[in-house]
Amino acid sequence: MNNASVAPVKLVARTDNIIPEPSRGFVCTPYVEELTEQALAYLEVGYAIHFAGPAGTGKTTLAFHVAAKLGQPVTLIHGDDEFKGSDLVGRDMGYHRAKLYDNFIHSVVKTEENVNILWTDNRLTQACKNGYTLIYDEFTRSRPEVNNVLLSILEEKILNLPRPGRGKEGFLEVHPSFRAIFTSNPEEYAGTHKTQNALLDRFITVNVGHYDLETEVQITMAKSGIDRPDAETIVNVVRELRELGVKHRPTIRACIAISRVLVHRGGHARKDDPVFQWVCRDVLNREAAKVSFEGRLGISPLVSEAIKRVLEPEKIFKKNEVGAGQTPEPR
Ligand SMILES: Nc1ncnc2c1ncn2[C@@H]1O[C@H](COP(=O)(O)OP(=O)(O)O)[C@@H](O)[C@H]1O
Ligand SMILES: [Mg+2]
Repeated sequence: MNNASVAPVKLVARTDNIIPEPSRGFVCTPYVEELTEQALAYLEVGYAIHFAGPAGTGKTTLAFHVAAKLGQPVTLIHGDDEFKGSDLVGRDMGYHRAKLYDNFIHSVVKTEENVNILWTDNRLTQACKNGYTLIYDEFTRSRPEVNNVLLSILEEKILNLPRPGRGKEGFLEVHPSFRAIFTSNPEEYAGTHKTQNALLDRFITVNVGHYDLETEVQITMAKSGIDRPDAETIVNVVRELRELGVKHRPTIRACIAISRVLVHRGGHARKDDPVFQWVCRDVLNREAAKVSFEGRLGISPLVSEAIKRVLEPEKIFKKNEVGAGQTPEPR
């Protein structure tokens, strides 16, 4: 099977919950291992954790990986601006009416009527009740009032339910095995929701940035099946562009996209390879355009510069030479 089709984490669906299993496509370098170990330590002690970082830094993948290590079912929720409280916790579904007629004695008809309110648990309630691992991906996309329910879950280990009569007093004690992993992108905090400072105070935030070079190379290879030398070139071009262009962009997803197309078309990451030229233009220009290239056709000067820095470093030295007789520092 082609590596490109292997997801980093295999998901086995069981009703609404999933049991993550480590998959062959998951890349575990010392960097990934260290992050995983730290996160597990916090979770094992009972803290909730929060992976915060820009898009494409592997937060969601790491959350699944860590959850898989915990070895219990996972409940996955994606933050959503449209969420209502009931989407997380549950809601009344109406009434169930049962009538019993007792006409044993002819003249008296006894009627007994039972009305039960039907309630459906939503994912968060199920996770708290059964002791699952909650992954709340991009939680800051949900409105803070919706997320308020998490405050008492994390602090007092109690889930408040919206109506009395359920459990003892409208609350449910959170199962001791319940664990929570949050992810968010700090770039999105501005303007969305003042992040729920109270919530941030209740979990341990692990800041993640872009993976180190070796991890990016291995992920690119694992997800596209490309050879190491080509993967290294592509990752280096993307890393150069991150320095030249918009902060945090492009991401590892660009490395994977370029590599998949190159593999598909039998191309290589070389300056004279036409496939490499057009795929870099299309995948990378989007980011570079934000800086200096205003939607014109052709390859963005920033992308060209990044490719040159990786594939023709000698040309960069010449350009930057200060005086005769000086030997340029190797890059
Ligand atoms: N350790 C890893 N092994 C294999 N692929 C990974 C790994 N970490 C991230 N990826 C891949 O990198 C890309 C970005 O990761 P993702 O978890 O979606 O980032 P984020 O949630 O921070 O935006 C995805 O295609 C993902 O499959
Ligand atoms: Mg994500």
